[in-house]
Amino acid sequence: MDKLLIEGGQRLTGEAAISGAKNAALPLLTAALLTREPLVLTNVPALNDIGTMLKLLAQMGVRIERDGDTVTLDAAGLDNPVAPYELVKTMRASVLVLGPLAARCGEAKVSLPGGCAIGARPVDQHIKGLTAMGAEVTVEHGYVHAKSPKLKGARLFTDMVTVTGTENLMMAACLADGETVIENAAREPEVVDLANCLIAMGARISGAGTDVIRIQGVESLRGTTHRIMPDRIETGTYLCAAAATGGDIRLTNTSGCYLDAVIDKLMDAGCQVESARDTIRLKAPQRLTAVSIRTSPYPAFPTDMQAQFMAINAVAEGTAVIRETIFENRFMHAVELIRLGADIKIDGNTAFVTGRSRLDGATVMATDLRASASLVIAGLVAQGETLIERIYHLDRGYEGLEQKLAALGARVRRVK
Ligand code: UD1
Repeated sequence: MDKLLIEGGQRLTGEAAISGAKNAALPLLTAALLTREPLVLTNVPALNDIGTMLKLLAQMGVRIERDGDTVTLDAAGLDNPVAPYELVKTMRASVLVLGPLAARCGEAKVSLPGGCAIGARPVDQHIKGLTAMGAEVTVEHGYVHAKSPKLKGARLFTDMVTVTGTENLMMAACLADGETVIENAAREPEVVDLANCLIAMGARISGAGTDVIRIQGVESLRGTTHRIMPDRIETGTYLCAAAATGGDIRLTNTSGCYLDAVIDKLMDAGCQVESARDTIRLKAPQRLTAVSIRTSPYPAFPTDMQAQFMAINAVAEGTAVIRETIFENRFMHAVELIRLGADIKIDGNTAFVTGRSRLDGATVMATDLRASASLVIAGLVAQGETLIERIYHLDRGYEGLEQKLAALGARVRRVK
């Protein structure tokens, strides 16, 4: 299994280009299931999660062509509306095929994702929404079976804000009879990106980006070409890496407009951040000031940036309080950061992080995608060598991580 060897202590400087957003690409790939015409997606990142989704779609009968960062999907021959356990267990976002399959095929059989490292993460809200739209949904032998000769528009309300839940129901509603209203909808930019593509495919959607989304069902959708938005979490991760190392970097192919909550906190920590139309520049002070955060659905501070902020607080001046309100078990990076010398105390969903003037390199283990990113940031700051094990998590979500970090002056190497 690959490992990442980092020799810490280098200030990050220079320029790196941000890739397309994983969390926008995944639902957009499943949107291809809604039409018989080809859907062309550009700026698709080369990530393991994307590979898993393409494999899943291919075994359903979708024809796929990949040329660089362009993926063409043709679901005219869709003949197997099944998402097997072997593929779903490696990536929870596989559940995003449920809504499109139920809408287009009148039938779907999708393995339950089960638990994952950061918590139980049930899909009850996806099921509740489809049921309200007239689908007959049963859960048997670990699979969700949805049967729905024709979905009907309905008024849907989710108990909590769910990103993939909103995306699944929005896609299903595109081909339902009549109007669907999703209340308490997720406002994440990735939901808006998906809605924009669906609209280009002929869907009638309004309100994406607010907490009430209205969808007027249409008979069928057509193909289109859509460019995937930049990855705001990858962007935020590099900003944190530069901040922690006292760096000065410029990120291209991205935008600060999806990152207000994160940039605000980086500025509170003492960084200068300038955003132009498609670039962001960050200049860090010699030492950061601790910043407290509380994760919440968009536009508040994203849970996917919590671990990275724990890493920067580990070397900042002062004590930060970090509250995780989205996932119940998302502090596993703390014990690994402690192995590097961080001073972190956990009490339930709250972490207290007191900055140290230095961290020391050690061997640590990546436990999930964003936890791994926090270990990379800590490794870049730590004195000496840090060896990060199980970096397949990083390959799920960070395209060309070593190359981009090396271009910014980091000493980092993949060890086979
Ligand atoms: C998405 C993102 C993930 C991010 C998360 C929160 C993708 C592919 N993944 O995950 O990177 O960390 O949003 O911003 O976009 N919940 C239920 N029942 C449900 C659905 C959700 O109880 O049916 C709970 C979850 O357990 C969690 C909370 O709701 O506590 C939010 O989860 P959700 O927004 O659904 O996360 P994902 O869409 O899986």
